[in-house]
Amino acid sequence: MHDLLRSLVEAYGPSGFEDALRDLIRPLVEPHADDISVDAMGNLLVHKSTAAAGALKVMIAAHIDEIGVMATHITEKGFLRFTNIGGVMPHTLLGNRVRFADGTIGVIGVDHSDDRGAIQPLSKHFIDVGATGREDCPVRVGDAAGFDRAFVARGNYLTAKSMDDRIGCYVAIEALRRLPADVPHDVTFVFSVQEEVGTRGAEAAANRILPDVGIALDVTRTGDVPEAKAMSVSLGDGPAIKVRDSGMIAHAGLVRLMRRRAEEAGIRYQMEVLDGGSTDARSMQVAGPGCAAGCISIPCRYVHSPSETVDSRDVEGCIQLLVALLSGSIDL
Ligand code: CO
Ligand code: ZN
Repeated sequence: MHDLLRSLVEAYGPSGFEDALRDLIRPLVEPHADDISVDAMGNLLVHKSTAAAGALKVMIAAHIDEIGVMATHITEKGFLRFTNIGGVMPHTLLGNRVRFADGTIGVIGVDHSDDRGAIQPLSKHFIDVGATGREDCPVRVGDAAGFDRAFVARGNYLTAKSMDDRIGCYVAIEALRRLPADVPHDVTFVFSVQEEVGTRGAEAAANRILPDVGIALDVTRTGDVPEAKAMSVSLGDGPAIKVRDSGMIAHAGLVRLMRRRAEEAGIRYQMEVLDGGSTDARSMQVAGPGCAAGCISIPCRYVHSPSETVDSRDVEGCIQLLVALLSGSIDL
């Protein structure tokens, strides 16, 4: 598990710059696909067809992009000012490191302030790539970087800078490997782009596929750390079946089916009601004529920080739940 996961979470892929992830995932899923394609936006579509008459079209989405930064200005002394790609929180920046597509590493610093307790806005931060001026700066305006942090396993806890949503990609890859050759649905696994900037890749893919059922695989917050905002999701309590988030109310019949399949298969699960944020399920739900959408969430601490943390037992539960769902009939 760890070798594949390490390669996924350490790869470079801020929104809009997902090529390395696509190249990494494609050969892993190709043996399990009837056909495979990449659309104009860069979504990787892995299709498993079926001979079953009247089969439902099912779309599974896991996003390959991650949050990051983009250079907006290079100072005379060779420092970069930057903007965010997705939900970057200013209090995670100082001392953090970023990596550009060519491997250039940058260290994030912050302008001096007399109020050392205050969190400075993103605009007061800069990136130091070791340049002394514009001439020897290896970065151009418009270059994007992801955060740079090694994967670490601490017992059941797995920590990395991009569990959101490479752990969803891992669940999708592993489910593809385990699914029987003939699944009674017409299933397309979409490794989607640009989720972190507004679920854009999944929107295009869903408008192409026009699924009857759409299921996102993504992380969700937990309420199990000191002084956490109240939330009934904990690490280690199993896959979280999403009921709602701020972008979507999941299809009630699909939620019921997920619960039933989990119970039949003896998979420990929890129910998720998330106050903020959303997933690719939001896009799938309202694409084309609309579809029955839901989300299997992987509980994750410290989302959008360099140390996003999941529990390997929850990950296994998510894989099992997805395989159980896709292997049986889907009656909503
Ligand atoms: Co995210
Ligand atoms: Zn995500």
